[in-house]
Amino acid sequence: MSSIFAKLLFSTLCMLFLLKTHSLVFADQRLAIVYPVIQNFKSMITSDPLGVTKSWIGSDICNYKGFYCDNPPDNNSAIALASIDFNGFHLSASTLDGFIDKLPDIALFHANSNNFIGTITSQITKLPYLYELDLSNNRFSGPFPIAVLGMNTLTFLDIRFNFFSGGVPQQIFTQNLEILFINNNLLTQKLPENLASSSIFLLTLANNKFVGPIPRNLPKALSSLTEVVLLNNELTGCLPHEIGYFQEAVVFDVGNNQLTGPLPFSLSCLEKVEVVNLAGNMFYGIVPEIVCAGLVNLVNFSLSDNYFTHVGPFCRMLIQRGVLDVGKNCIHDLPFQRSVMECADFFAKPKICPFMWFHSFFPCKFPFQNSQVSSIP
Ligand SMILES: *[C@@H]1O[C@H](CO)[C@@H](O)[C@H](O)[C@H]1NC(C)=O
Ligand SMILES: *[C@@H]1O[C@H](CO)[C@@H](O)[C@H](O)[C@H]1NC(C)=O
Repeated sequence: MSSIFAKLLFSTLCMLFLLKTHSLVFADQRLAIVYPVIQNFKSMITSDPLGVTKSWIGSDICNYKGFYCDNPPDNNSAIALASIDFNGFHLSASTLDGFIDKLPDIALFHANSNNFIGTITSQITKLPYLYELDLSNNRFSGPFPIAVLGMNTLTFLDIRFNFFSGGVPQQIFTQNLEILFINNNLLTQKLPENLASSSIFLLTLANNKFVGPIPRNLPKALSSLTEVVLLNNELTGCLPHEIGYFQEAVVFDVGNNQLTGPLPFSLSCLEKVEVVNLAGNMFYGIVPEIVCAGLVNLVNFSLSDNYFTHVGPFCRMLIQRGVLDVGKNCIHDLPFQRSVMECADFFAKPKICPFMWFHSFFPCKFPFQNSQVSSIP
């Protein structure tokens, strides 16, 4: 009895909804198509503290808060929903499935700082114009969203500050991305080993569980990176001298990993670098004077919490200027160092870095000479 009543009520509501949709006049057929998709998504939103969805009524989709229209690439006289910017709206919904993937003309989707959860549907692969996808600072989980692999329109992918876990497919580094932010997730992965080239110039991998060494050919492949941000991972091994290929880097941050070995002299090839953070590793040996003397833009050079034993006069000048921090090392004529015992323990263990004969090698113009060093064997 009550079920028949419920069915009746449901079909009446459906009819009302259809009538209402039909009575709406849209500026373009493309907007009529996405209207029910948006209304369906609106009904799934469980929290809207800023009340933005109140504006999501009627046919004027282009004036809904967070929605932007433009002429689609395939028809200059049409009007389509081209862009969504939900940044900071603090909306909650259990999924974006059935929403983002049903917006055929979407080019930019920005949803930073909401409470969206779930995984990313593989259906987004079919969106022909999507080039910026920002899902950062939400509560997405599950594996890396492999749906984006092979989406050659996509140039900007930001999934940082979520709970994505597992591996990162290497293909992501070789498609057309220019900006890839995946820091602050639970991703476990070795850095890509056979990367020959990449269009990425902004990449943040920090605060994940990246493991293994920094591959020797990685810096050359990513030589247009302006920020090399690998801090708080579980990287091991020695810094290859090829880090000198990061010649565009303004930030070089490998702090809080388990890296070891002496610092390659090629660090001085990073002529634009302002921030170098190697703190919280197991680096040892001499702090190369050529780095302290050659990197004139340095404002923060942190080597604290390592096992360095010597600093020369140029580096001491940087210490005095408050640029270089060598606290908690094994430099016994300086204050705030490790105990002699702790240092002795560390140096008693065997140390091997491969390719050590290259560690004084520069894959760049030697700063104090005019000779160009030729390519590395
Ligand atoms: C382009 O869009 C306009 C407006 O929606 C439409 O009238 C026209 O038929 C479309 N042209 C093509 C070639 O699809
Ligand atoms: C320098 O960098 C380190 C490591 O990133 C950071 O902890 C420290 O606060 C910075 N110092 C200054 C003066 O900015």
